[in-house]
Formats: sequence, C-alpha cells, structure tokens
Amino acid sequence: MRFDIITIFPEMFAGVFSGGIIKRALDRGLVRIAVHDLRDFTQDKHRQVDDRPFGGLEGMVLKPEPIFRAVEAVREDGAGRVYLLSPQGRTLDADLARELAAERQVILICGRYEGVDERVVEHLVDGEISIGDYVLSGGELAAAVVVDAASRFVPGVVGKEDSVKNDSFAGGILDYPQYTRPREFRGMKVPQVLFSGDHKRIERWRRKKALEKTVRRRPDLVRNRTLAPEDRRLLEDIPNERKDE
Ligand code: ADE
Repeated sequence: MRFDIITIFPEMFAGVFSGGIIKRALDRGLVRIAVHDLRDFTQDKHRQVDDRPFGGLEGMVLKPEPIFRAVEAVREDGAGRVYLLSPQGRTLDADLARELAAERQVILICGRYEGVDERVVEHLVDGEISIGDYVLSGGELAAAVVVDAASRFVPGVVGKEDSVKNDSFAGGILDYPQYTRPREFRGMKVPQVLFSGDHKRIERWRRKKALEKTVRRRPDLVRNRTLAPEDRRLLEDIPNERKDE
C-alpha cells in the first residue's frame, strides 16, 4: 500500500508520520508514503503553481498543468487512485478508510488557496475527499488524517488483530469505556464488574456501554440499523446498569 501526497507545503508532513503506529508501519514496509512538492512539476522559471481566477474576483487558483504532470509522474502503471482533498468531497468515515486501504496506490492532491482548477476535478481525479464540514487552510492536514485512518486498515499495521475490530465505528457503533490502574483515583472508582473475572459479564457490560454511548451521542449511527435482539435487550436494561458497577 502506497500513498503519494502532492502538495505545495511538503515540509508540513515532516512530523506527522514520525511517531506511533504509522511510523512502525513505514519502518516495517507495510505502508509507503511519498511526499511530492508540486513546484517540482512546474516548467517555468518562477515555478508558479497558482494564478488569478478567470472571471475576476479575489484570490488564486491552483493551475492544472503541474497537478496533471505530478499525478502522471507518480502514478504506477495506471493503477493509482487519485483524490483531491477538499470540503466538497465525500466525507471520510471508516467505510471510506477501509476502501482506500484496499488500493495498491492512493494519490492525494492537497488543495490550496481559493481552489483548484476545475479541470483537475473533472478530468484527473477519481473523487474528492473531505474530512468534515469545516474549511481548513488547505488539504495537507486532511491528507495526513486520510493516510492515518486508512493505514489502520492495512493488514498488520495495527498490532493486535482485533484492535481495529474493537475500534469505534468498526461495528458501526462507538467504543466502550476503558480503565487502567489505579482502581481508585481521587475518589473515582473503576466499575466493579471489570474485576469480576467473569468474561461473559464483562463483555456484556462493554457492549451495553458502547450501545448506550452511541444512542446518547450519535443516534444517527443506530437510527437506520436493525439491532440484534441481544443488543435491544441490553439497551432496555440500561436503567438497571448501576447494579453492575
Ligand atoms: N481542504 C479544506 N477544507 C477541507 C476539508 N474539510 N476536508 C478536506 N480538505 C479540505
């Protein structure tokens, strides 16, 4: 799995992939990330990547030629999927991250300024990706988010096989709460059920907590799903949960 990031600010990526799970995946060769300076694909003396928009108004627009040239240079024998990071794109979620992780090469173009020449959108990219309904100064931070979220679905990247399985959203719901030592901190206690040694009971408690959190905070995630009968029973049981803690 290989990511190619095309940007006018390559230095922004110096730190983001230098620690944690992504660094380990890079060191192990499970994921490759190449950052390309868009200016290297210009052909004029001033290495100009942007220009004024036709039709007037303020601001600058990223020119099409360097972007087309950059994609053509880094794309591996026509296999690479090409995406523009922009607020107009499909919103990133676990499904999209998983889809990207199944590709051999993902090329990410970071948008900037007031926009990108529409010919890039219409004739070069396979799609646009947004990381949420807000506007960033550019696509760089969004590209880093996409690389991180997708890499987690590349086999072997996340250590224990089931840690991705238990992630929030993996089963379409949020994660259950976690605790570690000490058992009591400033009067705040770890729920008793977690010391019971009864794995079935712990599993039930976790599932219930995850469902409850999802229904309270993100009802949209469960609204269009038919809950399994066990899950429905757990939810009905929520008023009694204190007994378990
Ligand atoms: N560029 C600017 N805003 C963005 C967003 N929300 N997602 C992806 N790329 C962006």
